[in-house]
Formats: sequence, C-alpha cells, structure tokens
Amino acid sequence: MRIFFLYFNVVILLLCSIRQGDALVRRYKFKLQDASYSRLCSNKTILTINGQFPGPTIYARKGDLVIVDVYNRANHNITIHWHGVKMPRYPWADGPEYVTQCPITPGTGFRQNVVLSDEEGTLWWHAHSEWSRATVYGALVILPKKTDQYPFPKPHAEVPILLGDWWKSDVQEVMEEFLLTGGDPNVSDAFLINGQPGDLYPCSRQDTFKLKVEYGKTYLVRLINAVMNNIMFFKIANHNITVVGSDASYTKPINSDYITISPGQTIDFLLHANQKPSHYYMASRVYASAGFYDNTTTTGIIEYVGNYNTPPTPLLPTFFQFNDTSASVNFTRQLRSLANKKYPVDVPLNVTNILFFTLSINTRSCPNDSCAGPNGDRFLASVNNVTLVLPKTDILQAYYNRISGIYETDFPDNPPFPYNYTQQFVPQLLWTPENGTDVNVLEYDSVVELVFQGTNTVSGVDHPMHLHGYSFYVVGSGLGNFNKSTDPLNYNLVDPPLMETIAVPINGWTAIRFRANNPGVWFMHCHFERHVSWGMGMTFIVKDGKGPNEKMLPPPPDMPKC
Ligand code: C2O
Ligand code: CU
Repeated sequence: MRIFFLYFNVVILLLCSIRQGDALVRRYKFKLQDASYSRLCSNKTILTINGQFPGPTIYARKGDLVIVDVYNRANHNITIHWHGVKMPRYPWADGPEYVTQCPITPGTGFRQNVVLSDEEGTLWWHAHSEWSRATVYGALVILPKKTDQYPFPKPHAEVPILLGDWWKSDVQEVMEEFLLTGGDPNVSDAFLINGQPGDLYPCSRQDTFKLKVEYGKTYLVRLINAVMNNIMFFKIANHNITVVGSDASYTKPINSDYITISPGQTIDFLLHANQKPSHYYMASRVYASAGFYDNTTTTGIIEYVGNYNTPPTPLLPTFFQFNDTSASVNFTRQLRSLANKKYPVDVPLNVTNILFFTLSINTRSCPNDSCAGPNGDRFLASVNNVTLVLPKTDILQAYYNRISGIYETDFPDNPPFPYNYTQQFVPQLLWTPENGTDVNVLEYDSVVELVFQGTNTVSGVDHPMHLHGYSFYVVGSGLGNFNKSTDPLNYNLVDPPLMETIAVPINGWTAIRFRANNPGVWFMHCHFERHVSWGMGMTFIVKDGKGPNEKMLPPPPDMPKC
C-alpha cells in the first residue's frame, strides 16, 4: 500500500512538474449516489454526483490540474469522462468504458487527474458508461490564466446553462428495452434547462430555471448540450446574442438570434440585457432531420430586476421547423477561430494520412423478423461499415500491457466498398455491417485529414461526431457526396473553428484536420447515445514518439479492474 502511495505521489509530482507558471492543483470529490427528484408530477430515483442534478460545476483556470476523487456509492457501474479535455499523454483518466478503463464498481473509487492544457472556455464532464450520462453530468468552466483576460469586454456575470432531458421511466430500462427489441429507444418526456423543464409542461410551473439580469449589463452564458439524442435549437425572445466561443476555444464574434448546438458541444455567448425590462423566455427544442423525437419545448425565464408591470406570461421566441437543415448548418458554418496574434491558428497543411469514414445506420435480420426495427430487423450503426463491439477488457490496458485478442488493428482508412452514399434508396444489400473491435493506428505526429461522409443507408440523419484526446479544425463541409478533387479547393485553412464535436449534416460530409501529437488510446464516436449504443464508434491508437515528452505517462495505481 505504502509503495503504491509513494508511486502515486511520484506520478502526481511528475504531472505537476511538467506544468508551468501559475497553474494550480484543484481538488474535487465526486460521490456517485442515488437521489430522488420530482419532475412532471412524479418522483424518480436517479443516479447523481453528490446528490446534485445537474452535477457540480468544476471551476479551473487554463493549464490547471484538477484531481477528482470519484467514489461509487450507488449500485451501478460508472465511469466519468472530461468531455473536451485533451489529457496530454494521459488517457488513463479519460473515462470511456472499455476503451480506456474498466468501470468503477459499486463500493470502489478512482482518483482521476484531469490534465488541462490549452483549453479555455467551457467544457463539461459526464458519465461514459451505458446511458448513465442522462443524469450524471455537469459543467467544467476553464477561466483564463490569472494574468490574462477574455478576448471580449469583461461580462458583468457568468452563468452555465445545461440542456438535458428527462424520462419519466428509468433510463436504464429505456436503454435495456431498445437494445433488446432492436427498435428505436423511447423518446424523452421533456427537455431541461439546468435540470428543470420550464412551465410549458404539465405540472412544471415550479420547475423553471430563472436568470435575473440588470438592464444595461452583459452576461457570459456558457451553453452546454447534454441532451442524449438530439441536436437542439436555442433562442431567447427579443434578444440577439453574440457567440464568442465553442468547445473551449474562442471564436470571432457572431451576432445571431438563435443557436444550433450538438450534444457534446458547448457555445459561449454574450447576452446583452438591453431590452425593455420585463420577463422573456429562453427556449430550446429539437432540430431533427429524421426519425422520432421529443417535440416538446423547454423554457427558462430571463427576469429583468426593477419595477415594472410583470407580463402575465413571458414572450416566447418563434422557432424554425424541426427539420430545418439550413437553419441548423447555417449557424454552425459561421463559426470561425479568432486567428489573430494572441490567439493564432495552427491548421496543419502537410497532410500525411487521408482518412475517409462513412457514418451509417444499418440493420441486421433477426430470427422470424422478431425485432422492432425496419422489416422486423435490428437497428445497428457503423463507421466504415464496422459496428463497434466493446471488449470486456479495455483497449488501453490491452495496448499498454500487450494483451492480445482484445482488439484488432485493422480499422479501415476507407469504406470497404464504395457506393453512391447519399442516393435516395441505398440497396438493401448494403444495409448489413460487420462487427468489430478495430482500432486505427496513427504514428506519432502524423497529420490527419478525416472526411466524415454521412450516408443514406437505412435512413440519413445528422451525426454529431466527437473525438477524445484532441481538438480538430473543421476545414470544410457540404451536402451530398464528398468530391475529393473539387471540395478541398474550398477548405477554410485560414480561420477554421477548433472543435471537438461537429455535426456532420444529413447526407452530407465534414472534413477535419488534426496533428496526432497526443499519444494514447482515443475514442471517436457519434454523440447521439442511441447511435453509439448501436455501434457508431471507433478508436484511434496514437503511438508514442521518440522524444521524452512524446510518450504516454504510466497508469495511476488505482485503475479500476475488470
Ligand atoms: Cu462526451 Cu465520448 O463523450
Ligand atoms: Cu449518429
């Protein structure tokens, strides 16, 4: 035990000593526990951190080390992921179950070093095992270094706003049921703003998030989409907002009267309280390009302080159609990096690895057409026609300890067979994927261009793709099939946004670039929970480099065991 502790401290010291300047170590305690919450007229027991829903907000400054002691006091396995934190050379505490770790079982704990580096702005943390992130999530606010400032006028106050959803039934049961039947999961019963549905639902008048503002002041809102299965539109009645950041990276200011936000993504914006003092709704509802969805609207209220006649009901913003793809992509396409002297871009130009990944919904037949998907088949999903099957021992451990038989290294750089990906009817012959636990191996420092191609197999839909361990530049996107001779001519290599989650439009494509300079095992997946459950994910192994600072750090002593 003593040796373990010594070793452990050495690792912490190591981690601390490679950090410079005014970086601090901050500590948090996360207790996974059941708690009872009442929403929409009924009580429910949910998994929480420290009994809070949404969970506690972590505050840090750029470059800090955050040490979170996670204890499992519930009766459900858990892992916690720090969404958007690159964890340089330290995938051990990244969190995805069976990719970088085995679950933290009831009665045990795991001390997780959350290694911040160049992230600045808003990120979040969430459970990364089965569907437990439905209630286990919270904000991660990364302020500039003490000696530094925002690249915009200092706001009067800051407020995190987390979009979430609520099922009246137990989320674990929702998950088990759809995996058993092979059909679509039940849609949620409500969306939430900071854990509360707002007053457009039955029995929810009390459960409304309220934000008090003073006329003439500006507020920094840190918007996080923690919804399980939907891209969301967000609007505030009568108010335009100024977007200043996304995914913990600053953007050129964008004035807009709405926001589109993918699950996983964060948007920082300035709210100028410059309207007639009154009450105004902020509201959010789904952008859905296909399929079933919860068509309800969640609201919160912005209340100006002062004396005025309170309206009987606040003004509600008007929304687009649920399936308005142009409204959705037009917002996202405006995002640009600051790309100035203080916040330069570093878009990799000399690409060494060109990857082309198709994203598909698939089906597989069931005995006697007994499943609840199309034609009695089971829904699946894939990347390059490989449906991810998670192993029983995590991939990181297998890689580090050279355990064979856990994964294969043949995840393809290109789809196994080309076809017209976005044609109106993809022949049914092409609907069935292969199962696999396949990784794509990248040499240290390779320069990757990855084009995601959404397909119309079974049914086209948007896919918010998320990469662990990295941010990437989104250099291009379009509708239809990617054309490799003409589309790259229109790439933005000047000021593309730096993101870690990007929605690939329905039957369209998105091109990203990153330099593989973070050795480790990094999950990449669709952030729609139903899609990743159906297998839309894959793993990169980025090899160690030659230099002393180009190798993975050793694991902590208390890694959960399988
Ligand atoms: Cu926000 Cu792999 O997750
Ligand atoms: Cu998806």
